[in-house]
Amino acid sequence: MTAKGFDIAIIGGGVIGLTLARALCDRGAKLAVFDAGADVPQATRAAAGMLAPSFEYGEEFGGPAEAVYHLGARSLAMWADYAAALEQETGVFVDYRSDGALGLSYRDEQTAALAEQAAQVKRLGGDVEMISGDEARELEPALSADIAAALHAPKDTQVDPRRVMAALKVSLNRRGVEIIQGRVLSLGDGETIRQFVTAEGDIYEANRKVLATGAVGGLTSRGLVYPVKGEATAIASESVITRVLRAPGAYLCPKAEGRLVIGATEEIGPFDHHSVSPAAVAGLRANAARAVPALGMAAELERWAGLRPGTPDGAPIMGQDKNGRYLALGHYRNGVLHAPAAAEAMAALILGETPAFDLAPFSISRFSSGRDG
Ligand code: GLY
Repeated sequence: MTAKGFDIAIIGGGVIGLTLARALCDRGAKLAVFDAGADVPQATRAAAGMLAPSFEYGEEFGGPAEAVYHLGARSLAMWADYAAALEQETGVFVDYRSDGALGLSYRDEQTAALAEQAAQVKRLGGDVEMISGDEARELEPALSADIAAALHAPKDTQVDPRRVMAALKVSLNRRGVEIIQGRVLSLGDGETIRQFVTAEGDIYEANRKVLATGAVGGLTSRGLVYPVKGEATAIASESVITRVLRAPGAYLCPKAEGRLVIGATEEIGPFDHHSVSPAAVAGLRANAARAVPALGMAAELERWAGLRPGTPDGAPIMGQDKNGRYLALGHYRNGVLHAPAAAEAMAALILGETPAFDLAPFSISRFSSGRDG
């Protein structure tokens, strides 16, 4: 049996895999994407789509948080043009918004934590400010009178990840990139073993292989990427709030067509992206309604769970391993945010060009169990 061959095989059809495929296509590469489909949880399907470098750069993990912040800020700066180009090319609306975000506090210690975060983000070059509860209510009149203060991040914003995925698929389809539905069983050595097989028994070969596998497969067996489950819900809400709100215990993201996403729980470990606990959804709804009381009675549209691809130090893994495989995974809470910048850098690396920023902080060699390949 002759194996079907490609120059580059991207394993993983989430936002990281698809944006990388598009960036490689732009540079004339011949490739295919292997997508394990709905049975394997894509973090992208579950994501709220916040583009929030000011809030989620993982300083609590003691890893290369500054590099993560700068990756997020760089990618945020690319998103407006990226979304516009994607929409223009495909005709698919991706709901990119540029309304900013508010981190909210009720109590002094929460305000102090936000102020510390604001100072840190400013030190890193970010554009954020602390504002009073009244100033926050001027921006978002539906906010509770109990909100004491807020961290205003005017440049943080959001996009709709499901719409982005739909647009990326149209874009890749127009460019003739195959998205092959199949779970890749073993990738083998990137430089000398060209062939690999899917769970369906189909054999493929590629000169270069890229792991963009998210929370499953890939590096999970070595503990370098692990699932961090998140549960979320969407409710019906037309124009109650306009920007992303990050309240204690819930974030709120208004989307098109009267949909408002409320997320998300965080639980390390289970490979379970199917079950959604009623108590978790009730907790998210209560925390959201505490911040925006008008949402208390809103009808639920949907609830779901997904698995974020966590890493031991909260930073993504980008680069090449000792076996010649390219790695583009572990973006934890920030896959959608990081996608445009990560795709450009990884496409450059794979094609032997110089990436626009230093990938060294994201190398797998920073982990002792990553040094042998
Ligand atoms: N970035 C939002 C989340 O991971 O829940």
